[in-house]
Amino acid sequence: MSFILALDQGTSSSRSIVFDGAGRVVAQAQRELRQRFPQPGWVEHDPMEIWRSQLDTARQALAQAGIAARDVKTLGIANQRETTLLWERTTGRPIHHAIVWQDRRGEPLCAQLRARGLEALVSERTGLVVDSYFSATKIRWLLDNVPGAREAAQRGELAFGTVDTWLLWQLTGGRVHATDASNASRSMLYDIARQRWDEDLLAALDIPASLLPQVHASSHHFGDTDAALLGVSLPVCGMAGDQQAALFGQACVAPGMAKNTYGTGCFLLMHTGNRLLRSRNGLLCTAAAQPGAAAQYALEGSVFVGGAVVQWLRDGLQSIRASSEVQALAESVPDSGGVMFVPAFTGLGAPYWRADARGAILGLTRGSTAGHVARAAIESIAFQSAALLQAMSRDAQEGGGAPVSELRVDGGACVNDLLMQFQADLLGIPVLRPRVTETTALGAAYLAGLAAGVWQVLDELASQWQAERVFTPTMDRDRAQELMARWERAVRQTVAA
Ligand code: G3P
Repeated sequence: MSFILALDQGTSSSRSIVFDGAGRVVAQAQRELRQRFPQPGWVEHDPMEIWRSQLDTARQALAQAGIAARDVKTLGIANQRETTLLWERTTGRPIHHAIVWQDRRGEPLCAQLRARGLEALVSERTGLVVDSYFSATKIRWLLDNVPGAREAAQRGELAFGTVDTWLLWQLTGGRVHATDASNASRSMLYDIARQRWDEDLLAALDIPASLLPQVHASSHHFGDTDAALLGVSLPVCGMAGDQQAALFGQACVAPGMAKNTYGTGCFLLMHTGNRLLRSRNGLLCTAAAQPGAAAQYALEGSVFVGGAVVQWLRDGLQSIRASSEVQALAESVPDSGGVMFVPAFTGLGAPYWRADARGAILGLTRGSTAGHVARAAIESIAFQSAALLQAMSRDAQEGGGAPVSELRVDGGACVNDLLMQFQADLLGIPVLRPRVTETTALGAAYLAGLAAGVWQVLDELASQWQAERVFTPTMDRDRAQELMARWERAVRQTVAA
């Protein structure tokens, strides 16, 4: 039997999972990661904590699996994307904490880039919008603000990496400095059509090319781990950003196949094959995980406040004591009683892109209860996701393709049956929850296993995917459309407020 070790380094935790050749979870371990907020709008992680917590969980998962190290054929990495690190090439010492994807400190620089009229160039080359979410302005901030960083970078002494690259560097004892196309595509410095770092954008941002890792396909023999770390040297044969890894783990590898991950936020991605389909409906265009030589693409939209709305019910409104109580409270009423909740706490992302929007609860009456508000909060996750999926379907159809015909789901909140049924009802297409919901780690394992020969072809992986439950739409389509129209009206009110 062949086993694969997958590392899933996420924003809130480091996790490791051992999979068998049938894609089943054999063992797993997890460690929380400390979040640091040095100033309002700033979010940092300690790079050494990222590495050590990840290594610890890898050792624990291997020990729990109770298998001989030689039976582990390969290692794959999925990672929180965009989070930016710079370190010294000779010592491996990070020059600063990692600047996390949620960190907004690059915003003044983004405003300058917009004022310089660079939005069209960024969009054309990278498929992204100018935003501090991506790595470029984080790198530039480090070069401008860490004493001596720019000079060291100009001497070629520093390395840039997202978390995949950092873990690979550590795992290989500093021998390999590389990333994959899916991670590179989130830097705002990578030309996704030509598949190379973009010299014009590097010049516009004044970032030396010497910092950058080599970019490979996501399924590739990146290097071998130092044998002292895990008791055996393992080939690292897969790397991808976590959302693209999840798309791959959901076996969404053909145009039009889409997945939504319901976490603190939601990340909805639709595969567009080897075709770079540019969005006309407010979505990002990004590199999908690339199993072979040909570039693969996806459209992506994210919901900033997904499951986080439940945390707000708990911590802000204090209407529940634990997040697990939300489903019961929402089910205490048959529907939201006309209450509409737009959780635009930090503005609205795709497809609206309104940073100035703020949250609102609308449609309250004397009869409204905490149950109605909870139900509206849960429904807001589905409304936001539905708006993204409809934008994707419009893009697909305008590009000559078919609309999305089913949605595969994963992430913590996909266990909420009420939410999944409402999602299917709004969309009018089946929502499929897989047996293995660890799709991010599974995607990394699949990418690694393909390059290491555990599996030969994509079809083998696609046939492993199985639905645990299919949520079929039952709502009348007129009613669903009326609800979506009410949602859009509510969104417009939050922008006007
Ligand atoms: O783009 C950010 C995303 O990769 C974060 O994912 O799962 O760490 O919240 P997660």
